[in-house]
Amino acid sequence: MKIVVIQGPNLNMLGVREQNIYGNMKLEQIHQNMKGFAEQNGLEIEFFQSNLEGEIVDRIQECLGEADGMIINPAALTHNSISIRDAISAVSLPTIEVHLTNIHAREEFRQKSLTAGVCAGVIAGFGPFGYHMAMIAIMQILNEVKALKEQQKAREEAIKAEANQE
Ligand code: DQA
Repeated sequence: MKIVVIQGPNLNMLGVREQNIYGNMKLEQIHQNMKGFAEQNGLEIEFFQSNLEGEIVDRIQECLGEADGMIINPAALTHNSISIRDAISAVSLPTIEVHLTNIHAREEFRQKSLTAGVCAGVIAGFGPFGYHMAMIAIMQILNEVKALKEQQKAREEAIKAEANQE
């Protein structure tokens, strides 16, 4: 199973930008930690960061047929990007939205997420640990999807076998 982690504008500046708000961990370190956890759990993982909305839309679209789920921090685009929301909705993959900060406790313009409504869930306010939580959440969802598919397949086979006996 493969997940793609997508990071929005200015997250490449983590560890430098507003450390009092975002802490001092760099994005590479967050990704290293995620990679370690993915390896331990037999998950394939890929990372993408862009400051450009269109590039993020392109990467989300590429996930179709390539990935089983996404973890996304759209950063400032959370609050104004209909195209990122539409892209997430279009690929219809289980997606977890992550924010380092509790956006609900910040300026009013950050309290609304346009993307949250098309995600399976949102994790906000736990700093870099939120990405770890998101990996646990996505693994849980992917396992549930797998179990459902297996159940469905078994049911279809049982129906076929019954039909053949008649
Ligand atoms: C952020 C919150 C956004 O409002 C902000 O623009 C970011 C980071 C977060 O992770 O807390 O760049 O998404």
